[in-house]
This record gives sequence, C-alpha cells and structure tokens, in this order.
Amino acid sequence: MSAAIQPYTLLDDDDCEVRILRARETLGERLVILGHHYQRDEVFRHANFTGDSLKLSRQAAASKADYIVFCGVHFMAEVADILSRPEQISILPDLSAGCSMADMANLQNVERAWQELSEILDPEVSITPVTYINSAADLKGFCGEHGGIVCTSTNARHVLEWSFKQKEKVLFFPDQHLGRNTGHTMGIPLDEMVVWDYDKPLGGLTAEEIQNAKIILWKGFCSVHQMFQPEQIDNFKQKYPETLIISHPESPFEVCQKSDYIGSTEYIINTIANAEANTRWLVATELNLVNRLHEQYKHEGKNVHFMSPNVCMCSTMFRIDPQHMAWVLENLVDGHVVNQVSVPADVADNARLALNRMLDVSP
Ligand code: 13P
Ligand code: SF4
Repeated sequence: MSAAIQPYTLLDDDDCEVRILRARETLGERLVILGHHYQRDEVFRHANFTGDSLKLSRQAAASKADYIVFCGVHFMAEVADILSRPEQISILPDLSAGCSMADMANLQNVERAWQELSEILDPEVSITPVTYINSAADLKGFCGEHGGIVCTSTNARHVLEWSFKQKEKVLFFPDQHLGRNTGHTMGIPLDEMVVWDYDKPLGGLTAEEIQNAKIILWKGFCSVHQMFQPEQIDNFKQKYPETLIISHPESPFEVCQKSDYIGSTEYIINTIANAEANTRWLVATELNLVNRLHEQYKHEGKNVHFMSPNVCMCSTMFRIDPQHMAWVLENLVDGHVVNQVSVPADVADNARLALNRMLDVSP
C-alpha cells in the first residue's frame, strides 16, 4: 500500500527539502527530475535538468532512468511517457497540474472542426494539422494520423515551414497567439490567419474566409500571457526609455509587435544571460521565471522587470510543491509508484509519429 498524500500536506518546506534530498540520494541514477522554468524555486532546484518544452522533451527521450519525475504540467509528463522506453515510468507529482490552454482544444471539438472543414475543402489534401505541444496526447495522435506535426515555441517557424511544404493550409491549435505571431514573422498577412471559434458552426467563418486562409487559428490562449498588454510597455518606456522588451510568443500580437525579442523560455533566459551588463529588461512571461532572472542577474547591474502590474503566475505549474515531491519520491524509495502518467499505446503510437516529425525538423 502506498502512503497517502495527506500527512505530507502538513509538512513544512524545510522538512520536505530534507526528505527530497534523502530520497534522491537513495534512488540515485534510477531517478531523473525534469523541471520547467516556470516551477517555483523550492521545486526547481531539485531538477537534474531544466528547460523549455523542447529541451525537456529531448531530455525525456534521452533519459535512461527508471523514473522520470516531471516538475511541469500534465502534457509534459505525457510527452515524457510517449518518448521514453516502455519500461520507464513518467510521474507528475500532482495530477491536477494541467494547462488551461491545453484544455481549450479536445479531440471531440478538433474532430468536429475537421469534419466541418470537409464541407468546404478536402482537409486531407489541403490542411496540415499542427498542435502546440501544450495539448493532450490524443490531439498529438490526431496530428500523427492526419499527416500533421507538433510544435513548441522554439521550433514553431520550422514546423510551419515543414507544414506548408506538405499542404497549402495549416490548422493550428490550441494557441492562436503562437500561431499568429509565428505566421506573421513568416510574412503571412493577418487577414490570411483566421480564428476558428469552436463554439460556433463552421468556426464562425464563411466558406470564403476558409478558402482564403493560410492558417486557421484555434481560439485558444494562455491565461497567463493573455494578461500582457501593449500599454504596459508604453507606460514602462515612458519612465525608462532604454528598456529592452522580450516576450514569449504566447503573448498577444500587439505585445510581440512592440518587443525587441520574441522566444521561448529558454531563449528568454539565454538572451538576458548573454546581454551586456547594466541593461534594463521588461519581460512578458510567467512570474516565477522573471523573478528568478531578476535575482540571478542583478549583480551584473541587469534590471529585469515583470511586464504586468498584476501577478501572472501559472497557477497549475504552482501545484507542484515540495510536499508532493517528497510524497512521490518517498513512495518510490518504498517501491510504490504514485501519480504515474501513462498514455494508451494506440494513442501514443500516433502521437509519437507527430512528435518525431517535430524533433526531425527542429534546429
Ligand atoms: P516553453 O517553455 O516551451 O517556452 O513554453 C512555455 C509554456 O507555456 C509551457 O507551458
Ligand atoms: Fe499552460 Fe499558460 Fe501555464 Fe504554460 S503558462 S502551462 S500555457 S497555462
């Protein structure tokens, strides 16, 4: 019988720290901990490898450990399960750590969209389905089955270039902002990127709009990045005109248009790390990461600021806490697997197809 989480919820962070370190030592190389950049520091510091979604997928695929404990959100642990060997076990310390953007598309409404699009054109001939990695495994499976592909914020442009070599149009889900921002950098006019509203018949579009579109963007968004607004940049720059703006491509188009740099979490970190001393940065991405950058680089005179006056934290990433970490790791020490994330084989096979296509075209 595995131990229940309840007693762990009463432990303070320092107790958990000791337990986590002890369990890590006992498990040795049988365990690898992967940590996304948005994780809180008390968890993040235990990661063997940290990264953005692409880097962590590669780490999961390369890992030889028996247990992959993913400090991130559910779709990341699914990807680790799909890309690792069958006998490896992928664990998400709190199974309720989902992604609200990923939940905005599901197999049912994507299949319905595919069906409705077939009233206007033959999607199998004309459309490459592209899913952002922030999506459930069955949507990656859908893409695998229909000649499509997965992308991350790092490789979205390479993936779209590949997609347009296959078919003339792309159906991009779930994040409209990543799709639009990437399409725009490729020179696709805004009016050729239409938004598919999954609550409306034919996505709320006319047949003509669909025929003229290069990219059909799903009406999804990240509630964290949606909070950033162009006025926040204008207000900040009034005070500090020398500020450099750097944004994650999940941010709205108008914010990215006013940014000096756009890229994934890993790109944001590297850009600020390699910047000249005494520079000032306004950053549009999740708060835990921005706070970490602020602390890390203040001694170089780099001033790193968060773009929004409001707190924009990824509340689901935050669910991975030291208490859940101590719980899953001590259970592993005792030979119990708790919170395994396991993708059914038929879904995993098609999803792996779409993920491997992505890994092949990624720089
Ligand atoms: P990246 O770390 O891949 O840039 O993605 C950010 C994100 O929202 C993860 O869910
Ligand atoms: Fe999902 Fe946004 Fe959180 Fe990333 S930051 S996991 S996209 S809700």
